[in-house]
Amino acid sequence: MDAAFLIDRAVAEIRAWEASWGPYDRHPALFVSTDRAAEALLAYTERLRDNYPFFHPRYAGQMLKPPHPAAVAAYVAAMLINPNNHALDGGPATAAMELEVVALLRDLFGLPDPCLGHLTSSGTIANLEALWVSRELRPGKAVAFSAEAHYTHGRMAGVLGMETRVVPTDGSGHLDPEALERALQDGHVGTVVATAGTTGIGAVDPIADILPIVRRHGVRLHVDAAYGGFFRLLARLDPSPLAGATRRHLLAIADADSVVVDPHKHGLQPYGCGAVLFRDPGVGRLYRHDSPYTYFTSGELHLGEISLECSRAGASAGALWLTLRLLPLEPGSGLGSVLSACVDAAQDWHARLTRSKELEAMAPPELDIVTFHPKTDPRAAAVDQASRAVFAAAMEDRDDPVFLSLYRVPAKRIRVGGRPVRRDRADVQVLRSVLMKPEHALYVPRLHRRVEAIAASVRNQVPG
Ligand SMILES: Cc1ncc(COP(=O)(O)O)c(C=O)c1O
Repeated sequence: MDAAFLIDRAVAEIRAWEASWGPYDRHPALFVSTDRAAEALLAYTERLRDNYPFFHPRYAGQMLKPPHPAAVAAYVAAMLINPNNHALDGGPATAAMELEVVALLRDLFGLPDPCLGHLTSSGTIANLEALWVSRELRPGKAVAFSAEAHYTHGRMAGVLGMETRVVPTDGSGHLDPEALERALQDGHVGTVVATAGTTGIGAVDPIADILPIVRRHGVRLHVDAAYGGFFRLLARLDPSPLAGATRRHLLAIADADSVVVDPHKHGLQPYGCGAVLFRDPGVGRLYRHDSPYTYFTSGELHLGEISLECSRAGASAGALWLTLRLLPLEPGSGLGSVLSACVDAAQDWHARLTRSKELEAMAPPELDIVTFHPKTDPRAAAVDQASRAVFAAAMEDRDDPVFLSLYRVPAKRIRVGGRPVRRDRADVQVLRSVLMKPEHALYVPRLHRRVEAIAASVRNQVPG
């Protein structure tokens, strides 16, 4: 599907709607000549070339990819009007769309109807809201999360003045339920954050095992599914491409007290689209406030009344609405097919890595993030140095670059030839690849061959 075609159609429709309001004169202060506009635009697009090719499957580094063309067209169309989803005064159409997409996200997670939710401008703000609600419901209590949780939880707890407890992970990056049980013993923790898809390796915390623990201690469970939330679709497939434990824990999100998901990660959206959902619609009372400027056009719920943010782009809700209409939240089609291809890509690359003479696979991917490192002599420092050398050489290659990322792990997790390395340093940087484009499913053989070749040439250059 061509984005330009969709954008042209969308812009034409909005221009026709604008014309229906009658002619008026634009103020000359806004005028710029076509020549100057063209020149400035060229300077702008030339500046934009200073980017990595996030659209191309050779970019397999961070959690980055362009939005779906439908999202772009929908965003541009709404942006021409520029509705503000703070209040129905600011954007009735996109506010209604926001309620509809939030209902779809509710069903994605199996949360009850009614529940309370809204879009946010990011996963960080969505998590901030979830922690703020927890603070209001459990005043004076701490928030616990795993050592692999996103750093935003520590920072936002700081903003909210909440104490934190960091719970150790097991050997494969999951929150350790036994350690959690110990952390809850003294009754000081009011909320536990479980991560469904850690930022580092996409590990899904054992949510189904955490739930009985938090319930026993009367503690809230918040699930940060910013990255992995949409993969819950695949957990409903039978057979599923996901491992049994991953499925079980994704399905258990249905029993969480609050959930965050980022449509701007795996929902094919441009940045500026997170979401938070609360199982109990009653938490809406915590948001209660008055506004002397808005909330007048209707007695219906205004989204600003249940959100900490004020202005938010209505275009975000519009873009997600159109995208989900075209690629619905179905396990075996729509967005489900996109996610299945990403999981296939990761599993394929992991399988190739396990057979490689140059590269050593780390833990099998649970979602679509693969970690590995070059085979070196069995010292942590050697693995670290070789990983960084391959990362730089792959990115800097002029003819056939590959863009990976680096990820720091404790040296005790590193093995060469299946055996633990000598821990001559505490932490090691390894190679990490986020295969979040479905195109990666076809491109992985090339990625693998290329990274193997780069690792071989680096091995010949790096002193041992
Ligand atoms: C698990 C997790 N939580 C929270 C965040 C923060 O989200 P955002 O970057 O949208 O603020 C991220 C970002 O990568 C994430 O992976």
